[in-house]
Amino acid sequence: MTRIAIVGGHGQVARQLIHLLRRADHDPVALVRNEDYRADLEARGAEVRLLDIEHQGAADFADAFAGCEAVVFAAGGGPDGNIERKRTVDLEGSLKSIEGAQKAGIRRFVQVSAIGVDDPLPADTGAVWRAYVEAKRDADAALRASDLDWTIIRPGRLTDEPGTGRVALGPDVLRGDVARADVAAVVAAVLDVPTTIARQWNLVNGDVPVGEAVRVAG
Ligand SMILES: NC(=O)c1ccc[n+]([C@@H]2O[C@H](COP(=O)([O-])OP(=O)(O)OC[C@H]3O[C@@H](n4cnc5c(N)ncnc54)[C@H](OP(=O)(O)O)[C@@H]3O)[C@@H](O)[C@H]2O)c1
Repeated sequence: MTRIAIVGGHGQVARQLIHLLRRADHDPVALVRNEDYRADLEARGAEVRLLDIEHQGAADFADAFAGCEAVVFAAGGGPDGNIERKRTVDLEGSLKSIEGAQKAGIRRFVQVSAIGVDDPLPADTGAVWRAYVEAKRDADAALRASDLDWTIIRPGRLTDEPGTGRVALGPDVLRGDVARADVAAVVAAVLDVPTTIARQWNLVNGDVPVGEAVRVAG
């Protein structure tokens, strides 16, 4: 059994991940900024710890990760159109999670990113989308450059469709939709598979069962 910290622990992917981690006999630790989430998350089987990504520093992240063997970064500024939060949550939240993991002596780190963020952006790209893509791009680059045992999962457009347990996963997978439930399933699966370390994959809906997709891609 492994204790796994989830940054952005009340997110839509995160809540489904909690369930899957419990089923796999792991101990999920949901890191959230809002005490009101506690009852819901505890009912799902998570330990809840408070962490405000924007207003706390790397040392606080390390404290929040205490006793954990892996970190999942599943937070995001969300679709509120706030450019500043792309930097403070999607980028700096990830950077502080990386530094916090290092301070806490945790090696395993799985990041939920987004598909295509290394592609050049057209000149007429809107400012909010540009800020989001660049935040994800830079967070991934920092994680790849770290000494952590990282895996980067880059989903296509997220949907709330029921998970199918079947995906397309790999470095060159083209854009498409993917169910949040299947993103959670892939994150849960890669945590346990050492051949996924130092790998970065796109993820969309597909035909290959999650376990097989992770084994083949790895
Ligand atoms: N939407 C898409 O189509 C798409 C596509 C590819 C990748 N992604 C990425 O996939 C990831 C997971 O998506 P999702 O739909 O599960 O995201 P989500 O439901 O928006 O969850 C993000 C979580 O981050 C938390 N957060 C934001 N600011 C915080 C702060 N200052 N302190 C603590 N927590 C904070 C939010 O908490 P609060 O509830 O307190 O705000 C929320 O629970 C995100 O990184 C997203 O960018 C999204």
